[in-house]
Amino acid sequence: MNKLYNAGIIGTGSSIPDKILTNSDLEQIVDTTDEWIVSRTGIKERRIADSKVATSDLATEAAKKALEDANLKASDLDMILVATVTPDMHFPSTACLVQSNLGIEGCPAFDIEAACSGALYGLITASQFISTGVYKNILVIGAECLSKIVNWQDRNTCVLFGDGAGAFIVSRVDKGYGLLAHSMGADGNGSKLLKVEAGGSKRPASLETVEKGLHYLQMEGSEVFKFAVKIMAKASEEVIAKAKLSLDDIDFLIPHQANIRIIDASRRRLKLSKEKVYMNLMHYGNMSAASVPVALDEASRAGKIQKGDNIILVAFGGGLTWASTLLKWGK
Ligand code: ACO
Repeated sequence: MNKLYNAGIIGTGSSIPDKILTNSDLEQIVDTTDEWIVSRTGIKERRIADSKVATSDLATEAAKKALEDANLKASDLDMILVATVTPDMHFPSTACLVQSNLGIEGCPAFDIEAACSGALYGLITASQFISTGVYKNILVIGAECLSKIVNWQDRNTCVLFGDGAGAFIVSRVDKGYGLLAHSMGADGNGSKLLKVEAGGSKRPASLETVEKGLHYLQMEGSEVFKFAVKIMAKASEEVIAKAKLSLDDIDFLIPHQANIRIIDASRRRLKLSKEKVYMNLMHYGNMSAASVPVALDEASRAGKIQKGDNIILVAFGGGLTWASTLLKWGK
């Protein structure tokens, strides 16, 4: 690649619904216990969007905060990418809806569907346009209203997910800063492990699909778990090697927030101390594409990451997909 500029994150923002659903609330809905959820996942509560709130609403709020953080106006944006598995509708894209909400027009806007890896797919895609000098400022958002596609009668899945949105502005940054390396991939053979089966062209919406609950998210949790533990460590090691750094050079790891056991197992494989790994899943559950950008925004605003830190962002998700980036924080 003809790399003219360094691409990095110059602003972050997030939007989290106010309504909290605790594990004890869930005990009233399905046959589960706070003890089971905490010990198997680490999750204590999650946020649920109001019935009138759609993914584009959360995405727009996160975007406005990221623009403010970057000292930019919406009209400064050259492209908008939204990563989501819960778009407002099949089409138009949620990115186009966000563009309209921001009061701008003209710049390209499209959605990325890579499940929980989506925001990192977006960051890596955006960085290509920045590095080659094609664009200057790109808005990348990970946004989800998973509460609207989980089956609230299925204890295997409904306890795991939450709603929220996180955004970052990807722009040119000083030499030596920004994205030092990235890695991304997919294994479509695992597509059956995590899916919403109906409502697309293979099984269009019908009375039968609705009665069978095929519009809900389905997951083979233990298979996804095994894949996740392996790929989180592998994808992190790959970016360290590509950046010609060592594990000791890593200041902070921000992993996809699916399950405390997945994060702990990956952390142990990487021999990183607990202090170097960011975790907020106890408060939000798995927000799919929103997890990593929300965690990055929180870590940045809380002063947990400093200019010059080497930060790994890593995620896995339905598809199956995975992605990781190594950033030298330049904010
Ligand atoms: N409360 C009580 N019991 C439960 C619950 C619950 N909420 N959910 C499942 N169980 C039961 C199961 O029915 C099963 O019972 P059985 O043995 O009598 O059949 C038992 O608990 C064990 O189930 P397992 O699936 O073996 O539990 P496991 O330890 O694997 O944990 C979990 C399940 C938390 C889902 C785990 O596998 C996991 O986190 N997987 C990864 C999920 C993930 O990361 N997805 C990310 C991608 S999401 C995206 O891309 C949109």
